[in-house]
Amino acid sequence: MVATSEAAPLRVSASVGSKHHGGAGTRGPATRRRARDVVVFAAGVAATLLALVGTASVLDPGGRGGLVALRVPVPVPGPEDGPRTFYDDPEVSYAVAAGRRLTGWDAKRAEWLRSRGLGRRSAPERVVMVSGSQPEPCPGGAGDHLMLRFLKNKLDYCRLHGIELLYNREFLHPAMGGYWAKIPIVRAAMLAHPDAEWVWWVDSDAVFTDMDFSLPLAKYGGRNFVVYGWPDKFFVRKSWLGLNAGVFLIRNCQWSLDFMDEWARMGPAYPEDHARWGEVLRATLSDKDSDVACDQSALVYLLLNNWERPGKKTFVETEYFFQGYWKEVVDRLDGVAARYEAVERRSPGLRRRHAEQEHLRYAGARNAALRGVVPGPAGGGEVGWRRPLITHFVGCQPCSGGRNPMYSRESCDDGMRHALGFADDQVLRAYGFRHAAPLNDSVRGLPFDYPAAHARND
Ligand SMILES: *[C@@H]1O[C@H](CO)[C@@H](O)[C@H](O)[C@H]1NC(C)=O
Repeated sequence: MVATSEAAPLRVSASVGSKHHGGAGTRGPATRRRARDVVVFAAGVAATLLALVGTASVLDPGGRGGLVALRVPVPVPGPEDGPRTFYDDPEVSYAVAAGRRLTGWDAKRAEWLRSRGLGRRSAPERVVMVSGSQPEPCPGGAGDHLMLRFLKNKLDYCRLHGIELLYNREFLHPAMGGYWAKIPIVRAAMLAHPDAEWVWWVDSDAVFTDMDFSLPLAKYGGRNFVVYGWPDKFFVRKSWLGLNAGVFLIRNCQWSLDFMDEWARMGPAYPEDHARWGEVLRATLSDKDSDVACDQSALVYLLLNNWERPGKKTFVETEYFFQGYWKEVVDRLDGVAARYEAVERRSPGLRRRHAEQEHLRYAGARNAALRGVVPGPAGGGEVGWRRPLITHFVGCQPCSGGRNPMYSRESCDDGMRHALGFADDQVLRAYGFRHAAPLNDSVRGLPFDYPAAHARND
């Protein structure tokens, strides 16, 4: 079971989350036909757009704001003179479900790091964020524009936090489309980035709504897999909605490769097993009304039934919105913004203009000023008025437009624009602007000493 410290907030989450969590409808029978164009969970594979951001700085992952270290360029061996590594082994395959498992990865990765002079244990743990959408254009009229905005939001967060972003739009395994597509690309990302300690999968329909919050990586020491969940729903009721598989952090190690192999074995790349798993999952998990095994129900089953093994290495995050359900978030965003402004009016230091590169120092100072003043956990939660790290638009299907009928078009469209604009305002600030209003695409210049001057002038 989860540690005691994690159990208490769970209860709160479970009571709120169980009533409103919208994941079920996303994949209910009515929407099953849309499985292929589920952009949200789709992670293509082949052609990848690799956006290298934050090359200049690796920031203190704890978000204390003190350390800003320049990444020292390492002399990289060229094609002729590099020592041989796992890349030179013809037996090593990038593909998941290709028959041959990759073994000895921890040693192979360590050897690669040593050969590049990157073996120091004291270095900050590097994170590669992976996201993606479907290979084809979005069928919905506004879908591709929304996808661009969701991608832009991730690009912003990554630039501010010294994280590399890999955005992928191909299905690396032909049978693993839709929500299964994330597994092959996350696996391939581990091989392509032996330098990264963590791969952070973030669904395309998830918005970073707190540009200040840094992943508390120190807390995840000794764990290999971090996922947001509602422990009561997960452990007690064995609900397939007890965890959300749309955002997870996975350590680049052998355990993770084995874990993903096992997870992938429940998917469509193994048609016979997949069909059998569909029945098992429906029979075992509560409120699962479909015979089709989806990645999330497979994950819930895998962890529930192997808690002694993969479970031990799993951390069910409940303390902050590692991913928050949008219906619990969007109506509070204006109130959140007002409370942050009120704190800044009293804190001249926070109002100083600064280079974007200094963002994390100011983020740390802002968090310190907010603590105890604005209720709620840093990174946001179901109660309080702190910015949520991630607002996840489950069920809104921005690419296809085929949202869950339980949500109105207005609630999804306005909710997404609201969250994206809320995030954009945090970014635009370093450039001297903000939006004219929460749902308005026009911007206006920020007066000197904003928001204090703003209050005086208006
Ligand atoms: C957006 O803000 C601009 C500038 O304040 C204003 O002129 C415009 O009417 C606003 N648009 C909407 C749709 O409210």
